[in-house]
Amino acid sequence: MNSSDGSQQLTLLYSRTQIQQRVTELAKAIADDYPGPGLVVVGVLNGAVVFLADLLRAFRQDVRLGFVSVSSYGTSAESSGAPAIQIQSDLPLVGEDVLIVEDILDTGLSMTLLCQAIQARSPASLRICVLIDKRQRRLHAVKTDYVGFELSSGFVVGYGMDYAERYRSLPDIFSIDVTDPECGNDGDPKLG
Ligand code: IMP
Ligand code: MG
Repeated sequence: MNSSDGSQQLTLLYSRTQIQQRVTELAKAIADDYPGPGLVVVGVLNGAVVFLADLLRAFRQDVRLGFVSVSSYGTSAESSGAPAIQIQSDLPLVGEDVLIVEDILDTGLSMTLLCQAIQARSPASLRICVLIDKRQRRLHAVKTDYVGFELSSGFVVGYGMDYAERYRSLPDIFSIDVTDPECGNDGDPKLG
């Protein structure tokens, strides 16, 4: 149900306090696993930027930082082909311990392709940290190493995550009612 100004209905899902607590726990778990410096942290643009910034600030040790992007692929994972992966050209990957930081795992297609692209550069190790795991929607198996929250259904925005490039700057995470005719068959747009 949309309001008269075109905004969708938002329902608070995770407050900024809950998020910060979970991010602190994740950072500690990661730091315990990588006690030395040199971890290469790879953020997936654009949605993971806010999560990644908070995660980095919760670390104690030095890390190296880079970004990759995964192109959007329409409203259905099946309908519009594979997303393209772009890796920052000077990102050190060969022989490095690499940690991918992503906002959401949904069908797992983006992450599967991203992992393949990074594995092709022969890192020493590769792990995955996601803020939100929609495990029940998985179509492509992905082994996660650090998961913030598991979500069984719905579309979420805020804390860097968008719906049609809206709502990224909200400090909390909301579920959004996108079951309207403008946003595809199942109200599940892949928009960034
Ligand atoms: P997948 O390839 O199906 O796993 O899709 C993952 C990508 O879809 C994420 O990186 C997000 O960009 C986007 N996505 C999936 N679900 C949501 C959501 O609930 N809110 C915002 N973006 C989402
Ligand atoms: Mg994304």
